[in-house]
Amino acid sequence: MSLVSYWAQGKPRPFAATYSVTNRCNLRCSYCNTPFLDPRDLTLPQVEVVFRRLRRMGVQRLGLAGGEPLVRKDIGDVIGMGKDMGFHVSLNSNLVLYHRMPSVMDRVDLVFTSLDGDRETHRKNRGEKSYDGVLEAITELVAKGKPLVAIAVVTEHNLDQAEGLLRQAEEMGFTIHFQPQCTDTDIVRGEIGENLTDARLREFWAGLLEQKKSGRPIASSAGYLAHQASWKNFRVSSFHDPAARCAAGRGFLYVDPQGKAYPCAYTKGKAKPINLLEEDWQTAFPGTTPCTRCNVGPMAEFNLLFAKPLSSSIAALRRIT
Ligand SMILES: C[S@@+](CC[C@H](N)C(=O)[O-])C[C@H]1O[C@@H](n2cnc3c(N)ncnc32)[C@H](O)[C@@H]1O
Ligand code: SF4
Repeated sequence: MSLVSYWAQGKPRPFAATYSVTNRCNLRCSYCNTPFLDPRDLTLPQVEVVFRRLRRMGVQRLGLAGGEPLVRKDIGDVIGMGKDMGFHVSLNSNLVLYHRMPSVMDRVDLVFTSLDGDRETHRKNRGEKSYDGVLEAITELVAKGKPLVAIAVVTEHNLDQAEGLLRQAEEMGFTIHFQPQCTDTDIVRGEIGENLTDARLREFWAGLLEQKKSGRPIASSAGYLAHQASWKNFRVSSFHDPAARCAAGRGFLYVDPQGKAYPCAYTKGKAKPINLLEEDWQTAFPGTTPCTRCNVGPMAEFNLLFAKPLSSSIAALRRIT
């Protein structure tokens, strides 16, 4: 239905929603602005209003993100509510607070965490305490049988870290999604390092594509890696190209910690918010997005799925079989 709506430009039918459960966070990563945004969260009854609205419009896949979801003491209730309503639930967490509540992820279908390189490199990107307990938590989650994807943000500090990360993933039993450091939106901060030329970055992404083809544990799709390897200017994460279309808003959407919805997280501050406590996305979404091309990790993957559904499905099937 999402695909039909996208191609026919009909009533929006997002199949995936990301709900940022809080902007608050225990860390201050160099490239992330989320902890400096509005610290107010929805109450559980308000979360229920939002979830019911998402469910009614057909959302199947619910991504719980932040900020850091584990700073919410009631995160177990939020996860439980999502599962009880029938969503496929994923959770993004830096895992530093995991040891305080190890059973909280028992009902989560898929865990995303962050791993930018070895201990020293990870700390350069994400701060002094950011590596504490993370590998232990990953080991425990994998041992429990949880599918786990580590997200590595590509910065000036970790271009030489891909091989080490891939070996670690092979040894420990998880996969890695690489994403470019994005700029120019409310939820991020910082600049791409001066020495990091577009040519070096394109070479890095082309190298990852070769690794993917040789069967290394890269969660990102080959199409996405090729998209990054041909990105012209990494200092521009998104732009409006009148000849292109974006599936945000029709295929997926983003809900911020106050219940305001946007086509995607990177349009926060650029698109008009729709308050899901009061309004219905399907009637209020104007149908357009401020940008139409981007190299932002999750959105670029989603867009490939909508632009090339057949080849993306075949690639996904190949990964499963
Ligand atoms: C916003 S965090 C939320 C979940 C959790 N706090 C964490 O760090 O894993 C989601 C993912 O976005 C990544 N991220 C943050 N700022 C970014 C940026 N400027 N560009 C690309 N990815 C970024 C983080 O590293 C993390 O993997
Ligand atoms: S990337 Fe995650 S852990 Fe780092 S500051 Fe942002 S929300 Fe916190």
